Amino acid sequence: MTDRFAAGESCLLVDRQGRRFLLTLDPERSFSTHAGTIPHTAIIGAENGQMFESTGGSRYVAVRPRLADYILKMKRGAQVVYPKDIGPILVYGDIAPGMTVVEAGTGSGALTTALARAVGPTGRIVSVERRDDHHATATKTLEEWFGQVPDHVELRVGEAADVVAEVRPERVVLDLPEPWAVFDETVSLLPGGAVVVAYVPTVIQVQQTVESLRSSGVCSDVTAFEVLHREWHAHGRSIRPKHEMVAHTGFLVVGRRYLRLDDPDEEE
Ligand SMILES: C[S@@+](CC[C@H](N)C(=O)[O-])C[C@H]1O[C@@H](n2cnc3c(N)ncnc32)[C@H](O)[C@@H]1O
Repeated sequence: MTDRFAAGESCLLVDRQGRRFLLTLDPERSFSTHAGTIPHTAIIGAENGQMFESTGGSRYVAVRPRLADYILKMKRGAQVVYPKDIGPILVYGDIAPGMTVVEAGTGSGALTTALARAVGPTGRIVSVERRDDHHATATKTLEEWFGQVPDHVELRVGEAADVVAEVRPERVVLDLPEPWAVFDETVSLLPGGAVVVAYVPTVIQVQQTVESLRSSGVCSDVTAFEVLHREWHAHGRSIRPKHEMVAHTGFLVVGRRYLRLDDPDEEE
């Protein structure tokens, strides 16, 4: 089966130096740099992975972007969660097909996109954002990646704590400045075994989040960690770490709801 580009889809052009350009294919437009142009009409209908030459003689491989490519290149309002952290959020948050997840804040929708893929059409994502402008940006992010906001994803404008309390999901993922304020109000409402994840940029926020979960008296297995991703320069005999790296993004705090012997929820 061949996989061909269609108008309206995303396409990533990668040149010989590894520079990457994200396009939304539009028959009326051309990709232009100092090294010449490639009309989008040349790419529309072409096979995923095909090479093109610009009018100035530069070569590019046209591929369907991976989600990691898309997140690093997409238009954003709020700061996104980087792919290096999204992987661990999905794995340590234990987010799997069919699950119900509440996410907040939606921000630019980068993490929402990954969560939506992870739970699949049999799952449910309710993602809540308090700002209208960020909600609108996230809606565009999902429309561009999936073609439309998938049926199993609800993007809401509102407050995280209200939505967690209403949905009582089996997974909660928070990327907002005060996750402890949400957990203080809602962790005891979650079903037994629920996994909660918070993504926060500073040590003070880690401390307050961990403290909130531990002092709830219904959360075990509380851990905090960060993920360092160091890319390597690998050309010929020169195999070494690159000189630059993104040294800090955020910390993950993960915990797990347990039911106490005297927990009223146990009877529900
Ligand atoms: C860093 S951004 C989230 C970025 C998002 N994870 C992404 O990958 O694109 C944090 C967002 O949380 C929203 N926010 C902060 N507190 C909130 C709350 N209590 N309820 C809902 N949204 C909240 C902010 O408006 C902001 O858009």
